[in-house]
This record gives sequence, C-alpha cells and structure tokens, in this order.
Amino acid sequence: MLPYFPFGQRFNDKMGTVPLLESDRLIEVDGHYQTEIALKKELLAELQDYYFQMLPGHETAQWEVLELVLQNLARFHPDQFTLRQEGNHWHWANHLLNEEATFTIGDSGTLPNAPLDWVGRQVQEDLVLLTGPESTLIGGQLCFGNGWCLDEKVGLPFWQIHAPIVPIVSPMIQAAQKLMERLPVGRPVWRMNWSVKITDQLDMTSRQTPALDQLIADLIPTLTPETIGNQLYLRLERQTLTRLPTSGAILFGIHTYQNILAAEIAARPDAATRLLQVFSTTPPAMLDYKGMTPFMRPLLTYLKSA
Ligand code: HEM
Repeated sequence: MLPYFPFGQRFNDKMGTVPLLESDRLIEVDGHYQTEIALKKELLAELQDYYFQMLPGHETAQWEVLELVLQNLARFHPDQFTLRQEGNHWHWANHLLNEEATFTIGDSGTLPNAPLDWVGRQVQEDLVLLTGPESTLIGGQLCFGNGWCLDEKVGLPFWQIHAPIVPIVSPMIQAAQKLMERLPVGRPVWRMNWSVKITDQLDMTSRQTPALDQLIADLIPTLTPETIGNQLYLRLERQTLTRLPTSGAILFGIHTYQNILAAEIAARPDAATRLLQVFSTTPPAMLDYKGMTPFMRPLLTYLKSA
C-alpha cells in the first residue's frame, strides 16, 4: 500500500504545501531501499553526466545537503545508519548497504564523488538544488525524474522550469514562486504530486520518453475496464523544500512511490471513489499534460464499478 494517498473530493488546484515538522522525516526509507539505490548506481555508472549535474561554485550548498541528509537518516533510522562527527571529520556507516565512509566536511578530495552525488547514493530521493532571487536550478542528482531531466532544466529559473504547464495552473505556480522566494531557514515544507502510469519503471527521465510513448501506444488497445486495474500504476512524489542556512540555496527532495492501481484499490475501501472524484474533476488540459487522456475512458469505467 502507498504510504500516502493524496486524493480527496476533487482535483486540487492549490499548491498543497504543508510544514515539514521537526518530528517529520526529511528522508524516507522503505522496503525498496536496496533495489532503488542499486538502480541509481547503475544509471549513474551508465550516464553520469545525465543523472548528476552541478553548475560550478556551489560546493557549500552540496556539503550542506550532505550534512542535513546524513544527520536526518542517523536520527530517524539509528538501526540502519550511524553517524560519528568529530569536528569536520565524519564517519558514516550505512548498515543497509554494508558501506562505511570517512571524510572531511568541505574537502571534496575525501569523497569518491561530488558531495551531492555521493549523498544521493545513500537515499531513495532525487535531490535537486535551486538558488538566487528567481530560484534557479543549479543542479542535482535526478535519476527518477517524471518526464524531465537535468539537461533540459539546469540554469532555468523556477518560473521557466514550469513553463510547459503554466497556462493550466498559472495561479498555483505563481504562489509556488512566492513560496520559494520567501521560504525561511528552519521552516521546510512538503507536498505530494500524483500521476497514473502504464509501467512502474522508476526512471522516467526525458531520455525514456520515446520508449514510454511507444509502450502506451502498444498497450492502449489492450486496456479494458476489466483489466486496466492491473495494467496501470499510481505514481506519487513526496516533495520537500528546505532552505539551507549557509548558502541560502533550496533543497528540493523528491521521493517517488508507486503501486499497481488494483492493489491500492483492494487495500483502501474508499480509494476507487476518491480517485474517481479527483480524475473526473481534473481539467482536461491537466490530464493531457499528465499523459492520462489515452486511457481515461476505461479508467473511469473501471473506477465506477470497483
Ligand atoms: C511548491 C512548489 C511546487 C509546486 C506547487 C509545483 C507544481 C508543479 C505542477 C502542478 C506540475 C505539473 C505536473 C503534475 O502536476 O503532474 C509540476 C511539474 C514540474 N515541476 Fe514543479 N512544483 C513545485 C516545485 C518544483 C521545484 C522546486 C522544481 C525544481 C526542479 C520543480 C520542477 C518541476 C518540473 C521539472 C516539472 C515538469 C515540467 C515539464 O513538463 O517540463 N517543481 N510542478
């Protein structure tokens, strides 16, 4: 079952951000940890510069992310991760991966990869950094992007990153822009995003788009109200936004969760009703943007009878 179910009585055109409390995890670890970290490492080994990019001059922000993430993991998952800090000399033990590392904060020569690239391999989340008055994307490690990639967006301000969807949800993106400008240190927020997919392939970065489009074209004729529940997947993103104290950059963390639609409906008595309410009130342009238009008819018929 998905750990979140962000479907209410209708499509929500608000940002949906809420405070991430001191007691909330910044980073989440679940049963898919090992497979997802292995997949990240495979992707990075195959195409390092595609999945990790950083504009020059942002070392401080990268180290801040590393510190924040490791401290958070050690605090919330003490059985899985151990952190020993002696001044700038840190010792990290990842018991899930059976890995240890000793390094000096601020000294990139003590790690095998750039700090953000290294710490991204310790977590299931994608980690992305934005900075400056327009919240410009300065880089990140993005292995499980949903329909986008760093090549397309690094160097762009927040507003332009969202340009492909702006006409549909312009007020929401304007509000989000303001939130980015004003996000205070020590007051992180989080939100959920959702989509429905034809596969549970985690890496949906842009280089996968042609193959995914072909898969949809091949599968569309096979989708019927009777079978569609086992052919589609709910794909959720738990997104966090955290202002880093020294660099002033914003860390955007994205944890992707997925489950087969029929399994989710079997696990939650009200799931079909809630999904039906949301999907049938989502603006058609948004359904189109999310790539759901080709299967809406059998999907709604299925949800009505589920
Ligand atoms: C409160 C903050 C944010 C809000 C309300 C927001 C909202 C949205 C919405 C509504 C979409 C359309 C996708 C969908 O709903 O399925 C979207 C897409 C996207 N968002 Fe955000 N977003 C936020 C933060 C960010 C940040 C910090 C980044 C940084 C990289 C980002 C990057 C993207 C990208 C790359 C897309 C896909 C755009 C494309 O089609 O090219 N978002 N966002």
